[in-house]
Amino acid sequence: MDRALEQERIVVTGSAGFIGSHLAQALVARGADVLGLDNLDPFYDPAIKRANQDATRRAADNAPGSYTFTEADLSEPDAFAIAAERFRPTGVIHLAAKAGVRPSIEDPAGYARANVVATSEVLTAAHALGCARVVLASSSSVYGNASTVPFSENDTAIEPISPYAATKRACELLAHTHHHLTGQPVSCLRFFTVFGPRQRPDLAIAKFMRLIDAGEPITMFGDGSTSRDYTYIDDIIRGVLAAYERTPDFGCRVWNLGSDRPVRLDELIDAIARVAGKQPVIRHEGMQPGDVDRTWADVSRARDELGYAATTPLDEGLAAQWAARPMPTA
Ligand SMILES: NC(=O)c1ccc[n+]([C@@H]2O[C@H](COP(=O)([O-])OP(=O)(O)OC[C@H]3O[C@@H](n4cnc5c(N)ncnc54)[C@H](O)[C@@H]3O)[C@@H](O)[C@H]2O)c1
Repeated sequence: MDRALEQERIVVTGSAGFIGSHLAQALVARGADVLGLDNLDPFYDPAIKRANQDATRRAADNAPGSYTFTEADLSEPDAFAIAAERFRPTGVIHLAAKAGVRPSIEDPAGYARANVVATSEVLTAAHALGCARVVLASSSSVYGNASTVPFSENDTAIEPISPYAATKRACELLAHTHHHLTGQPVSCLRFFTVFGPRQRPDLAIAKFMRLIDAGEPITMFGDGSTSRDYTYIDDIIRGVLAAYERTPDFGCRVWNLGSDRPVRLDELIDAIARVAGKQPVIRHEGMQPGDVDRTWADVSRARDELGYAATTPLDEGLAAQWAARPMPTA
């Protein structure tokens, strides 16, 4: 049990999602009381989110902390405040969002509501409820096609290339303003492509595994030379916990949480094929609008200030995700 977290009552938004369900489990295992909030958005099958919730409830049954859940759409006025008030939270970790780059191009207003409006609601309510800290999920996509790699938090990151990325950068700017006006400690975590068991089904690794398992062809967008800094879920969760602990020491801070280990798309497909023991048929298509050419995290700030390190090798993480993959339905 973690003495510091034992005293904490933490609202985790997006708790039915991929990262949120892992985080809620990690928090209850360390003795925190968690209120999960999520609207079970149909962006992907809500049955997957219910299964994530079941896993969290089972974990909480045998943990020193507790988990309760309220369904709420956080972009609705006062929804966060109403849902969280009775819980008397000491802190908030806000992960709820419409995620995904490509769908945001079809629905920029929906992304602005779910991401920017909801974040504004969360910040205002967290201050009114006297929370000692707020941690927000941001994204590597805020860097756009930055020409300098690895991506550093010192970069101005003012040229996002998708509505999703623009909403995430807007949330960071709201966090800065909020801290300036209220003094409430807020941090923003720029996650770099997170993978592992329960990964969102729209993300490349989950999609490739599903198709390879079913013996169906996979689509490679571009010539395979694009690259991503894939970060295993357990490493991300350790980073989020460290950021939660340290946020009050920094006032308002942005941290990259990545692995500092970019992998080319064609190398990723080879690595998945090795883990699956099957060679996929690959179809080629052009690059998709909104997709960046590469991501690569400079993690020196997180290492120095949070003691963060991504230690899980790609092959090991892929093997864990493959072993936990949902079985194809008949
Ligand atoms: N997975 C990644 O690789 C990655 C990378 C960078 C940033 N992020 C960010 O991390 C966070 C978690 O991502 P994830 O991959 O777990 O996504 P996810 O879609 O699995 O989880 C997000 C959850 O938020 C909920 N949600 C959406 N709109 C909501 C609303 N209006 N009110 C309440 N709940 C709402 C969804 O139902 C979902 O369960 C997101 O903010 C995402 O933008 C993720």
